Amino acid sequence: PLILVLNGPNLNLLGMREPDIYGHGTLDDLETLCAEVAEGAGLSIDFRQSNHEGELITWVQEARQSAAGLIINPAGYSHTSVALMDALKTLDIPIVEVHLSNIHQREAFRHHSYVSHAATGVICGLGFAGYRLALLALSEILEEDEQ
Ligand code: DQA
Repeated sequence: PLILVLNGPNLNLLGMREPDIYGHGTLDDLETLCAEVAEGAGLSIDFRQSNHEGELITWVQEARQSAAGLIINPAGYSHTSVALMDALKTLDIPIVEVHLSNIHQREAFRHHSYVSHAATGVICGLGFAGYRLALLALSEILEEDEQ
């Protein structure tokens, strides 16, 4: 099964961007980790990043045809994008929302995520491990669905 892994704005700067919050690992490191975990779990991944809300929405729409599950770190759009939430709500595949940082420990404007309204589950505050755990959760959900 194919898992689409979407990363929102500014995550292309991982490693350089506020490393005290987001760590020193780069987006390439994160993709490598996800590919390894996916392989171990019998999943394949399509790993993408965009700084554009509309592009993320188009990719979510395309997932209807191609993906068995979706992982999304919507970054800043978590807190602003009704349109991204609406797109996610059209999917009938499991969706895990991931944030590297613990958004509930940060500024009040990060405490609400529109995307959470559409997500099956949410992981935050665990850094790169959040993506690993999201892949493992999806693998379990998809296995249960098969039975
Ligand atoms: C983030 C948290 C968001 O509030 C922020 O805008 C990001 C990254 C995270 O991974 O912790 O860009 O989604």
